Amino acid sequence: MSDEKKYYPSKAFQEKAYIKSMEEYQKIYDASIKNPEEFWKEVAKDITWFKPYTSVFEWEDKEKYLYSWFKNGKLNVSYNCLDKHLEKNAEKIALIFQGEEESNVKKYTYKQLHLEVSRFANVLKKHGIKKGDRVSIYMPMIPEFLISLLACARIGAIHSVVFAGYSTQTTKERIEFAKSKMLITADGSLRAGKKINFKEEVSKAIEDIKDIEKILVVKNIDIPLTLKENEYIYQEEVKSLDILDTCEPEEMDSEDPLFILFNSGTVEKPKGTLHTNAGYLVYTKETFKYIFNYHQDDVYWCTADIGWITGHSYLVYGPLANAATVLMYEGIPTFPDNETYWRIIEKHKVNIFYTAPTVIRSLMRYGTDPVKKHDLSSLKLLGSVGEPINPEAWVWYYENIGKSNCPIVDTWWQTESGGFLIAPFPGAFPLKPGFATKPFFGIDADVLREDGSKADVNEPGSVVIKKPWPGMMRTIYGEHQKYLDIYISKYPGYYFCGDRGKIDEDGYFFIIGRMDDVIKVSGHRLGSAEIESALVSNKNVGEAAVVPFPHEIKGQALYAFVILRAGINPSEDLVKELREHVAKEIGPIAKPDKIQFVDSLPKTSSGKIIRRILRAIAYDSEDYGDLSTLYNPEVIEKIKSKKI
Ligand code: WT7
Repeated sequence: MSDEKKYYPSKAFQEKAYIKSMEEYQKIYDASIKNPEEFWKEVAKDITWFKPYTSVFEWEDKEKYLYSWFKNGKLNVSYNCLDKHLEKNAEKIALIFQGEEESNVKKYTYKQLHLEVSRFANVLKKHGIKKGDRVSIYMPMIPEFLISLLACARIGAIHSVVFAGYSTQTTKERIEFAKSKMLITADGSLRAGKKINFKEEVSKAIEDIKDIEKILVVKNIDIPLTLKENEYIYQEEVKSLDILDTCEPEEMDSEDPLFILFNSGTVEKPKGTLHTNAGYLVYTKETFKYIFNYHQDDVYWCTADIGWITGHSYLVYGPLANAATVLMYEGIPTFPDNETYWRIIEKHKVNIFYTAPTVIRSLMRYGTDPVKKHDLSSLKLLGSVGEPINPEAWVWYYENIGKSNCPIVDTWWQTESGGFLIAPFPGAFPLKPGFATKPFFGIDADVLREDGSKADVNEPGSVVIKKPWPGMMRTIYGEHQKYLDIYISKYPGYYFCGDRGKIDEDGYFFIIGRMDDVIKVSGHRLGSAEIESALVSNKNVGEAAVVPFPHEIKGQALYAFVILRAGINPSEDLVKELREHVAKEIGPIAKPDKIQFVDSLPKTSSGKIIRRILRAIAYDSEDYGDLSTLYNPEVIEKIKSKKI
């Protein structure tokens, strides 16, 4: 093994682990790669099927990368997350909701959650939502957010969640793309003590979207609410006599769509990642169990917003499919103070805590005093997701939150993958800070060179995966060719995930970062093209290029190079205006931290911006890559001399 410092699981942890040693992992892993169908067939026995499937995996059209997992099987995801548990776990707590106000706690047993979801599903049905209809959801972190997803799954409606931090314009685009018939939202919510009016925000977004026939509003806080025609308050609807407490789960085909979730990529427009019923359920269920080493009495907390894939897979579907107890928190880590997360862990005796490196880094700043005030001894396992975790943050997390007694699972995956691709089996793997370690069962991952050959040990290259896995996205909603172009065609026979990584002498994967124009800011995924087009839509801007630069808390932040239109002079006010403009167009998360006004940008002779040069400048690096196609070499020094 390599000589970096390694962190081993304790004997006590190991004894309770599903996978106890590297050898045990390797044996199952090898078998899962050799015969994936046999492997997933065993796993799928854990699912309740209304009708059995006829084959585990089958190519439908290899050229077009179309395939079926669990072909012809019939099932219902909400049934598998709720009804299935009623026999043994009806009284077990499924959901603990902790509101921003400390006294605002709601707990739902599996029986209660089943009831709430059934009622919600009946309200959707009453309003004409049927199998296959799209429903957009724009919600704060309240129980009804989770309930609304499961309600859609129950009746076979395809949910399409839009993260509630997006601006009106971005929200509008995403709702329009999905052609949703209904929008589910809330009147408002508390954010850092302030009342935010959700309904008003989202109403602006959908003003002229014709497809939306109705809006269902969950009343959450005391805030003025005006309803127009075809807008309904959920609590009123559910009271009506014809809303029953039971709702037959719709029989869904394995490959029927379960949800669409938008993400950013190399293209200007958002891409709707499509996930289907059976494969996604099987995959999130299995990965949740093994990587979090979930046992039946554990309280599990995932801090992600349900508006992201982490929330979908590991706050809603994965945990509930395992009959887990999930904690959900309404607020942010730094309100009312910087002890909030530690207080919640102590109060609810959280055993498994899953968060993002940016959260760790932002809380590290306050030192260990806020942590020491709380009893965190309930913790058994910690998790990290969304971006590479720097070793310093890893060690701080390990020593101060886990008290050097909890393994950290650094989970590498994507919206597209549905669930974990590379992550430690915590009872089996020695950990090395910064390494996501090894692939999950059935995941044939590798690192390739540009020319498709296999990279050497420790040689950086593209991370790829051979063969589809059950939780893999099926397409970009309505744009299959784009799906093929982005993910499939680059390395024939492999899925290309857009990340750069390397494999070390222990066979451990180290993820370096994105290779494309995706920028990860505080773990959130932004496309440089989206931000550039937002900048250019300002009347003062002629051209713009956006690249990342390293940021202590956010991991990466945005550096915008902007060419102003003729006659417009640079000023501090203009910097402010442009930042606000981007916030309005996309959302506050997309505000550039730095804006530098320039006269020209590095371009090829055909006029294409060479972003990697700007990226090197932003990183204070001289590593510009190949400069032979650069048409205006003088620009490098010019831009560098005025660097912010
Ligand atoms: C991209 C996917 C994974 C769900 C939440 C984000 C980066 C994610 C890690 C990690 C290094 C990571 C990758 C990936 N990423 N997790 N543990 N180590 N990088 O999903 O918004 O679709 O972003 O996030 O670059 O491709 P997403």
